[in-house]
Amino acid sequence: MDNNKRKELKVSAIRNGTVIDHIPSDRSFQVIKILNLENSNNQIYFGTALESKKFKKKGIIKISDKYFEDEEISKIAMVAPSATLIEITDYEVTKKGKVKLSEYIEKIVKCFNPKCVTNIQDIKTRFKVIEDHKGEMKLACHYCEKTMKKENIEFY
Ligand code: CTP
Ligand code: ZN
Repeated sequence: MDNNKRKELKVSAIRNGTVIDHIPSDRSFQVIKILNLENSNNQIYFGTALESKKFKKKGIIKISDKYFEDEEISKIAMVAPSATLIEITDYEVTKKGKVKLSEYIEKIVKCFNPKCVTNIQDIKTRFKVIEDHKGEMKLACHYCEKTMKKENIEFY
């Protein structure tokens, strides 16, 4: 236990903001990308391939002075379903939970069907989040009714 705590401290504590923990290591950079953190002026700590109890390797992102909206949390959940979201206020953990997919995903994902009306006209996309028989997450397009696997998901 003590040993693990020491490892966590490799990345500094933050005063206010959000910690995204338990990101599968190979998704760390993708989380940075979908949240557009490359263009952020907030103070950010980022670690990847860190030792973890739950995973072989994990990623962690700490963003100061930023609290995410449901829409952004849903994006994180799509890329890193195992992630934990922790809100920090004055150095204290004030909220902690697994990232959650919303029932519907709007605007942020492109439909992979080139003939879909959302790819032809200026219409915002809308998908229902479903699970296939293997428990894999899929997105069903509200407009063309095609379902997309994770591998086909592309963000705007
Ligand atoms: N954290 C932080 N700044 C703070 C407080 C906490 O960056 N002021 C980070 C910790 O480094 C940790 C996460 O927020 O990665 C969760 O904090 P806490 O619940 O205190 O840690 P643990 O109990 O070790 O979390 P877990 O066992 O769930 O990984
Ligand atoms: Zn479609």
